[in-house]
Amino acid sequence: MKNTSNEEIYFTPKQAAAYFNLSLSTVKNYIYAGKLKTLKTPGGHHRIPKAELLITLSDKIKSKEELHNLSLKDDLCASMLTIFKALGSLGNSLIIHAQEVAELSSNIARAMGMDEVDIKRIEIAAQLHDIGQIGVDKSILLKPDRLTFQEYELIKNHPRIGKEVISSMKALKDTAEIIAQHHERVDGKGYPVGLRGDEIQIGARIISIAEAYNSMVSTYSYKRPVSKDMAIDELIRHKGTQFDGEIIKLALELVG
Ligand SMILES: [Fe+2]
Repeated sequence: MKNTSNEEIYFTPKQAAAYFNLSLSTVKNYIYAGKLKTLKTPGGHHRIPKAELLITLSDKIKSKEELHNLSLKDDLCASMLTIFKALGSLGNSLIIHAQEVAELSSNIARAMGMDEVDIKRIEIAAQLHDIGQIGVDKSILLKPDRLTFQEYELIKNHPRIGKEVISSMKALKDTAEIIAQHHERVDGKGYPVGLRGDEIQIGARIISIAEAYNSMVSTYSYKRPVSKDMAIDELIRHKGTQFDGEIIKLALELVG
């Protein structure tokens, strides 16, 4: 790094790579592609003005940071599920369900053209969507018979509990509201708040469809699964009432 008389700071490619925590080849590729303008020394070496570096590489740095954040989120999410599973707070079937719902939810989000950061946010929210069940008595969650009114009211607390748990973690905080809303319905008859249509975050509208479909067809649950066609019919039947009609169309293309 060199300071000239007019105070402009110049970097060698190696210094630029170290300064921005990038590989030397990344910086060189930018130079060779003409994306990074340099000055040449009399000896033919590239010198990059710092201002030029900041302008050209800021996007690159941003995406690098974002990718790093995404892998941190993944790690934290996996750790939480492992801990709760080890404590016996979440059953194996719920973990499998969460993974399958996450896969379908992220596929729907990708089909909607979302960027990787939003897709990952929805995928993680899907993996953790029922984490609030740690606050609901197991005998109620696993009750094979019809639930009483009071029992159902207790189950309905799980989106709020999930939001509370996840809000306490900075890295996952942006998924908390999606988790809170995964049982809302577009007709406003869902819980816990009764939000309608677009008031419900798009991630929550996606997860509610993926969740319903997976619950119907999954073979690991204690409930008897229904066929793929029956599950699709059921989703269509609740289009525009329980589920977002536009998202249903995409989801059906993916599972059909
Ligand atoms: Fe749920």
